[in-house]
Amino acid sequence: MDRLPVPRRTKELTADIQLYLGSEFEHVAIHSIEVAQCAEELAARFGGETSVAKQAGLLHDISVTIPNPEKIRLCEELGIEIFEEERQVPMLSHQKLSRYMAKELFQIEEEAVLSAIECHTTLKKAPSQMDHIVFLADKIKWDQGGEPPYLSELLEALDCSLEKASLVYIDYLLTHDILVVHPWLREAKEELMQLNGHFD
Ligand SMILES: [Fe+2]
Ligand SMILES: [Fe+2]
Repeated sequence: MDRLPVPRRTKELTADIQLYLGSEFEHVAIHSIEVAQCAEELAARFGGETSVAKQAGLLHDISVTIPNPEKIRLCEELGIEIFEEERQVPMLSHQKLSRYMAKELFQIEEEAVLSAIECHTTLKKAPSQMDHIVFLADKIKWDQGGEPPYLSELLEALDCSLEKASLVYIDYLLTHDILVVHPWLREAKEELMQLNGHFD
């Protein structure tokens, strides 16, 4: 905890995360605001809570402030469960660290927000509607520049369901140079495959 700077809090979370991320991580603040707006739109479209979507979008990548080499050590210090796949690719632990920071530093108590933050990279078993929404918003507004190669297929699937759209992205990921397969991603995919027969 001591190693994580405490944010200055106002009534406006967007301004707070911009200030917290500062100029060093301005690109992450811009990405987070875009993800929050997209998540709000998806929530409005699919009947989710827009305020939950906004908070999760704004905070999902807040742990970018922790350098990759320190992420696993910090998880251990905080008692956060670490998978072998996260030791191999420490960046994969950033979703859990963002959840921790949202709760402990930004005083977010709502489980729907925290859950969506903690699985925004990999999804997880039995995801909530909001987990899908934030997961998909992060992929629609990806942070790599340009248009994501899977975007048109994902948006087409979204006309059918959030679940189908998540499966489109996971299938893309698994066939494009993925470094390790996170256990939550594997579980999410298996579950979505079982639903697949009901999509069309
Ligand atoms: Fe992320
Ligand atoms: Fe992100």
